[in-house]
Amino acid sequence: MEYSGVGIAITGCGSSAPNSTVTNDQLSQVVETSDEWIASRTGIRQRHLSDSSGTLVDLAAKAAKSAIEMAGIEPDQVDLILLATSTPDDLFGSACQVQAAIGASQAVAFDLTAACSGFVFGLVTAAQYIRTGVYRNVVLIGADVLSRWVDWNDRRTCVLFGDGAGAVVIQANERDRLLGFELRSDGTQNRCLNLAYASTAKPLLEDCEIGQGNFQPITMNGQEVYRFAVKRVPEVIEKALFRANLGVDAIDWLLLHQANQRILDSVADRLKIPSEKVISNLAKYGNTSAASIPLALDEAVREGFVKTGDTIAASGFGAGLTWGAAIFQWGR
Ligand code: ACO
Repeated sequence: MEYSGVGIAITGCGSSAPNSTVTNDQLSQVVETSDEWIASRTGIRQRHLSDSSGTLVDLAAKAAKSAIEMAGIEPDQVDLILLATSTPDDLFGSACQVQAAIGASQAVAFDLTAACSGFVFGLVTAAQYIRTGVYRNVVLIGADVLSRWVDWNDRRTCVLFGDGAGAVVIQANERDRLLGFELRSDGTQNRCLNLAYASTAKPLLEDCEIGQGNFQPITMNGQEVYRFAVKRVPEVIEKALFRANLGVDAIDWLLLHQANQRILDSVADRLKIPSEKVISNLAKYGNTSAASIPLALDEAVREGFVKTGDTIAASGFGAGLTWGAAIFQWGR
């Protein structure tokens, strides 16, 4: 993508997950399922689950702190904190509590909700603030505690999700490392995947009624989401590559939202990307929603797979429906 002005670079990453893990075998004590069914359909072997004292803010703050440390900046140099989440501790937003927890006293902070696409949408949002010269140092966190909202009686969904957080530091940089992106939304398909509020009518006055209720556990049409992902994700990556003026061969790493190994394999197959270039850690974490991309990135960087200058094609997809791709190079 041609851009004359300030560029962006991703200079640090971090992640965190609750200590407690639950294996597929353990889950089969909760619902009628098996390690064989879950692993063969999804690739997931275990997930990390938050207990009742665990907060989204703690997970997010821990990931953000280690990203800031890797980037080599001080918390008070952070200008903006974007918290991509669908499971805040507070519906008014949790980003300000993260700001306080990490001591980023100068940062403005707000939540961004785009489900499992939250990290990619957040990356592009951060880039706009930096490219326009408004901010120089942005912390983008993807964090979710979906275990709070899973129906633990529904074996079709409860086996898929886990809790966690991942974060990156995005900084103004002479050379622009965000090479191309494409974001999409389709609200007409919203019913495929929901964590929806359900309201009950309550009379307040004789001629005034209000609605009060609760959010209902996650519902998902798995097959429709699967079909959507394997069609739309390759398309959106190709579009982002086109904007970057790059071909598939330029991709060093395919970094998809960690929903399901079959989706990862199918997208790689359609794009003709060899499996050794596909980053996957969902066997250990399950689907951690907005956290999954930065969590997988953090592991791949710290384990020495992703190196400075490597070109990464990242794609998020999920509820909304939303989907998007960003082509970027790791490091300055
Ligand atoms: N254990 C054992 N059996 C199960 C389980 C389970 N955990 N879940 C479903 N089954 C059974 C069903 O009851 C059904 O049995 P039936 O035919 O007797 O009714 C059978 O397995 C097949 O069920 P399907 O729902 O058709 O299973 P499918 O092959 O589609 O696999 C899956 C389900 C894994 C969810 C698949 O549809 C999928 O991967 N979809 C994509 C979903 C996804 O990744 N969502 C997240 C992306 S978006 C986001 O991250 C928020």
